[in-house]
Order: sequence, then C-alpha cells, then structure tokens
Amino acid sequence: SAAEKGGYDYFMLKEIAEQPKAVADTLLGRIDAAGSLTLDEVRIPVHELREVDKVVIVACGTAFHAGLIAKYAIEHWTRIPCEVELASEFRYRDPILGTRSLVIAISQSGETMDTLMALRHAREQGSKVLAICNTNGSTIPRESDAVLYTHAGPEVAVASTKAFLTQLVACYLVALYLGQVRGTKWGDEIQAVIRDLSQISGEVERVLETMEPVRELARSLADKKTVLFLGRHVGYPVALEGALKLKELAYMHAEGFAAGELKHGPIALIEDDLPVVVVVPSPRGRSVLYDKIVSNIQEIRARGARTIVIAEEGDEAVVPYADHLIRIPATPTLLQPLVATVPLQVFACELATARGNEVDQPRNLAKSVTVE
Ligand code: AGP
Repeated sequence: SAAEKGGYDYFMLKEIAEQPKAVADTLLGRIDAAGSLTLDEVRIPVHELREVDKVVIVACGTAFHAGLIAKYAIEHWTRIPCEVELASEFRYRDPILGTRSLVIAISQSGETMDTLMALRHAREQGSKVLAICNTNGSTIPRESDAVLYTHAGPEVAVASTKAFLTQLVACYLVALYLGQVRGTKWGDEIQAVIRDLSQISGEVERVLETMEPVRELARSLADKKTVLFLGRHVGYPVALEGALKLKELAYMHAEGFAAGELKHGPIALIEDDLPVVVVVPSPRGRSVLYDKIVSNIQEIRARGARTIVIAEEGDEAVVPYADHLIRIPATPTLLQPLVATVPLQVFACELATARGNEVDQPRNLAKSVTVE
C-alpha cells in the first residue's frame, strides 16, 4: 500500500532515501567514545582473530560487489590475504581452507541457497564463518559461527540498495576491527577512517539532495540500448554494481569494466554517443590512479563516447572531459563507494520508470533466491 511505501511511489525510492539512517544505524553502538571499535558481538575470540591467515568472502549479486570492495579494505588495513568468490562457484572448485581461514558470508536475506551451501562447505573444512546479514534469525547467521548484523531495516524492493550500503559499512567495520586487534602500521589511518566513517551518513544525505540532474539524465537516455560503467580500485566494483542495477531494473545491456582493461578489449565497443559512466577516485592521495582514469576518460571521449563522470567536489581536472558531471563529497579513498553508488541507484531506478518497468518487482527475479 501507499502507506507502507512511506509516500513514495516505489519501495526502492523509499529504501534509497533511507540510506543515511541505515548507514548510521549500522554504525550505532559499534564505535566507542574514544573512537575505537567495539565488536564484542562478533563472538570470535580476539586471539583467534589474531591468528587468521586468510579471509575468504562468499556472496552473490550485489552482496558479492560489497565483498569485492571489502577485499581492498581488508588487505590494506590488515595485510591479511583476502579472496572474494561468487558463492555459486566456491565449493565446486575444492577451495583451500583451513582452521585459520576466516570465511565471511554476506547476505541481505540470509536465505540465499548458494551462499548457504558455500558456508556449509567452509565449516566442513574447519574454517570459522562470520555472517554479515540483514535478517535476524535467518538461516545463514544461524549456521555461522558469528554474525554482524546490518541494520538496514526490511528491504522490500528486489533491487538491493540500502542493504548494500550497510553491507559496505559492516565490511569496513570488520576490516578496521581486524586491523585494530592485530595492530598494523596503519593505526593512525584506521583511527582517522573510523572518524570519517562516523560522519559518512551525512555525506550520503548530501548526495541524495542533489539527485535531480541525475534523474533528468536518466530520462534522456531511456531509448539507449547499452550503458557502460568504468572504474578503478574500489570504483571498479561500484561500476559492476551500477551495471547490475541497470540490467535488473531497466532491462538494458549494461556492463562494468575495470578502466585499465579498456585497452585490452572493451574499448572496441565505444561508438558515437554511447553513454559511459566513469567513477573517478579522489584526486588527493592516489594521484597515479587518478591520472590514469582521467586519461581513460579522454580516450573514450575521443572515440565518441558520451561521458557521465562521477567525481569528487572540487575535482576540476575532469571538467573538460565530462559531458555530464555528477558530484559526490570528498571521502577517504576506500570509503568512496558509500557515496559513489547512490547516484547509480537513482539513475537505474529513474531509467526503469522512464521505460515503464515495474521497479520493485523486475521481471524474472525474486528477492531471495532459495534454490541453487
Ligand atoms: C541485488 O539487486 C539483487 N537483487 C541480487 O543480486 C542479490 O543481491 C543477491 O541475490 C544476493 O541476495 P542476498 O544478499 O539476500 O544473499
């Protein structure tokens, strides 16, 4: 009913709007007054967390994209090797797991059969499994050794939005916590990032306030057949997520690429007026990465692409190459997906509406996939 949708036309719009609160709720009670993480609820003893020699993340769809981003954070802040695998592929390749492997299963519903089978396989090998889940008492957390709940609240729309942002928050918390209990040379950075993370819901709110031009742009592209998405570093999984949203909602051909891979094949797809969304990392800090993506934008534009550039406020170097510019607030590099994903959700939702599609119930899809 309209009341359930809180005055919005679709659950998806309501859930996009709820993201600042979902993010804040997922942080609540997990950062103490001194700025340290308190994750005692994850009942894996600290001495075991100190001995973890490998992290393996298993998940499907959007949750898998959260896992891809988590890998950058975990390896950077903890120096523990981290693999991310589609849950549906995992157990069929006889993965190498041991008692010191920490397996993280990410699932909004907690009922995804592929993810459940992957975690059962991991436990049979003696690994500890930590679930990151949005649904209290669902099967995946019940069968795991420990759980960190995301507090997104119920997500009704088939296309995941607020669950994704809270999965990212939970992944950052786990990565920072592992860094905190193990002590790494990134101690100061970890402290600073915890501070930034505690402010981030306000930044998500600011992004939501500036989405009208994104909606207008989406409507203008309703007749297109293909949209490509490019990113590097954590912007790459953001590109994959932007493409997935567009496929499932707008039923358009959409693909996400690592921008560095362009020259190894995908650049052949670029033709006149093809919309290409590019997620640009912060110009501060990682300047090599930044310069490379700016030259990628120049390359595709020279070949006729219509460039839709998502760039940090104050980033002026991209302006000459952007046919459309979407601004996001400055954040630490690893946290950027929390703000960069939001315009892509709005973009896909508006395009679906413009094409007359059923936003909350896309064709052929189920909210939770309980068959293998
Ligand atoms: C996201 O928009 C999708 N509908 C889908 O990819 C989903 O993320 C996937 O099926 C995993 O679901 P889960 O998080 O409930 O395990």
